[in-house]
Amino acid sequence: MNLLRIEEFKITSAQKIAIQQLLTECFPGYPKGRTYYKQLPNFRYLAYQDHQLIGHLAVEHRMIAIDQQPFSIFGVVDFCVATKFRGRRSASTLLRKLEELGKEHQIDFILLTASDYQLYLNNGYQLHSNTCRWLFISDHQTLGVKNQHLSDTILVKALAEKKWSAGTVDFLGPVF
Ligand SMILES: CC(C)(COP(=O)(O)OP(=O)(O)OC[C@H]1O[C@@H](n2cnc3c(N)ncnc32)[C@H](O)[C@@H]1OP(=O)(O)O)[C@@H](O)C(=O)NCCC(=O)NCCS
Repeated sequence: MNLLRIEEFKITSAQKIAIQQLLTECFPGYPKGRTYYKQLPNFRYLAYQDHQLIGHLAVEHRMIAIDQQPFSIFGVVDFCVATKFRGRRSASTLLRKLEELGKEHQIDFILLTASDYQLYLNNGYQLHSNTCRWLFISDHQTLGVKNQHLSDTILVKALAEKKWSAGTVDFLGPVF
């Protein structure tokens, strides 16, 4: 498997088409003709096998706040592996790459939300429940601010010495 890390603004039309196809295969109901759900990410990892795109992980580099204390995070979005290539640790390799990058650049946490979290627990993530606040966006419209308790949905990997706490998490943008 070959991995490419690419900034969002450098993505070519051909890469965009391949990403759309993979997202549509992996996420039923993914918005048609799009490579993002709510907002563009900052960068992506693209995983190739024999020149075919088989894995994708998009990342939002953002500040969040927990009880008004700021933290830098990598937020994971649209993480997937093509059906035929699953179960070969491709996703775990992508998570490890992102972790190395975050450690290299003093990112505090990798963060994502998921209801099926086995993959993340296998890879050393911790499962948390927090009250969260985020910008509610739907189809290119800002509809307001959501406040909701997310139970056993938040997955966190601490990359430095900072500890995740039980306080209110302000995403300072859309939820991942
Ligand atoms: C989740 C996904 C990326 C895993 O890819 P993969 O390359 O097969 O993952 P790995 O081989 O590194 O790890 C396999 C583990 O993932 C776990 N897993 C399978 N589907 C999963 C899912 N939807 N969410 C979380 N974990 C999952 C399995 O428990 C498996 O663990 P096991 O080997 O102990 O049984 C892939 O199944 C996928 O693309 N699913 C559809 C899209 C999706 O749900 N993405 C996650 C969004 S949070």
